[in-house]
Amino acid sequence: MGNFLFRTKSIEQILADSNHPEHRLKKSLSVWDLTALGIGGIIGTGIFVLIGTAVVGDANRPGAGPGIILSFILSGMTCALAALCYAEFAAMLPVAGSAYTYSYATLGEFLAWITGWNLILEYGVACVVVAIGWSGYFNNVLKIIGLHLPAWATHPPGVDGGLINLPAAIIVLFVTSVLVRGMKESARATGFIVMIKLAVILFFIAVGSSSMEPANWTPFMPNGFQGVGAAAAIVFFAFIGFDAVSTTAEEANNPQKDLPIGIITSLGLCTVLYVLVAAVLTGMVPYQQIDIHAPVAEALRVAGFRWGAALVATGALAGITSVLFVMMIGQIRVFFAMSRDRLLGPWLSAVHPRFRTPHHATWVTGIGVATLAAFVQIGEAADMTNIGTLFAFVLVCAAVIVLRRVKPNQPRPFRVPFMPWLPLLGMAACLGLMAFLPMVTWIRFGVWSAIGTVVYLLYGRHHSRLAEQDVSTTGSDMTRG
Ligand code: ALA
Repeated sequence: MGNFLFRTKSIEQILADSNHPEHRLKKSLSVWDLTALGIGGIIGTGIFVLIGTAVVGDANRPGAGPGIILSFILSGMTCALAALCYAEFAAMLPVAGSAYTYSYATLGEFLAWITGWNLILEYGVACVVVAIGWSGYFNNVLKIIGLHLPAWATHPPGVDGGLINLPAAIIVLFVTSVLVRGMKESARATGFIVMIKLAVILFFIAVGSSSMEPANWTPFMPNGFQGVGAAAAIVFFAFIGFDAVSTTAEEANNPQKDLPIGIITSLGLCTVLYVLVAAVLTGMVPYQQIDIHAPVAEALRVAGFRWGAALVATGALAGITSVLFVMMIGQIRVFFAMSRDRLLGPWLSAVHPRFRTPHHATWVTGIGVATLAAFVQIGEAADMTNIGTLFAFVLVCAAVIVLRRVKPNQPRPFRVPFMPWLPLLGMAACLGLMAFLPMVTWIRFGVWSAIGTVVYLLYGRHHSRLAEQDVSTTGSDMTRG
């Protein structure tokens, strides 16, 4: 064991690879597209669905009650610390692959692989959760207009007489086929949906605030800090997506300036909206009575705004669709980058001759996510997404510190302030949130990481581009930048 674990990819090579004609992606995204992609990926299942469980609690953990307001602030601040680190990297290394590529440049091949492996949890498993959530809202909207799909076609085996969750699979395949056709079209669709969901959130805040009852905020933290922390670890899911902006860096027109703006603006705006939604929701309904399936729409219905509930349910459906777009794009770009480095098979990084999109990676992601979404239960998938993402954030924060030391003179269009304290605080905050996740999630995460390690040792270790260069050049010029 030894060197191969720590071999790093030089920044020059990372930038050169992304410009190789065979793998070059089309540049078409403006700062608005990037911000919309960020918001498109952020506001979705977390705020429309998971907030309910975070407030009320479940078998594995206590709820936050109205203290959910603090949970959102805590989780948002944790993400802000990570976002600053992402912004430094994204501006310096505007290439597909995001956290995975940043780790490859700094922490070495093995940790880069582990980062990429965790990004599969962040994006791939998140897509499964989001698609199943979409299906639930779809059925809800159909019910409102008096239509009912048969139970066998709308639930996975083992749930309410289900056989297959067809709406979940169909929406994934639809999104996949749009993505194969090109980024500009996808960004346009995302931009339109983002407007709808922002309108729906503002509508909820405006209408809901007229029915708030301050007495509902007492007790504010019924389960103390334990409840607030556990809820923060759940609603972390609601923030995931800002970093997906960085996975599209190669397709940005002006990445150095626009990526930091896109990442930070979308995260900041969503945090403010989330805190307001949390305050209004817990002010409208006594926290124990908050619905865990469609909390936001249900709060309006209970307060007597039936049409408002229907409007919010429809907007949520649109909003969740755009999350699916962004998360799918994230997963595809990560597969693409890992395959370009030959840590995964080369077939995955082929670019479509006409559309200039990574069509193989797109179909593999689409078919994989659709299959899982059709047959698995939401279960603990959101927790798995969160633990994998938080760990990837820890590695990104660490990587910023390492790269400042290893490559102090590399041009950095955006710099994280207060080095190294801010990234260190980011690492501590992410590890702190991870500590609030249930034990069973930690065990699953351990198993997932073990499988990843075996796959790397059997495949990536031997096939990686750096391994090839090690053989031909003895590797001395490729290690440590
Ligand atoms: N942040 C995204 C959502 O809440 C993943 O759906």
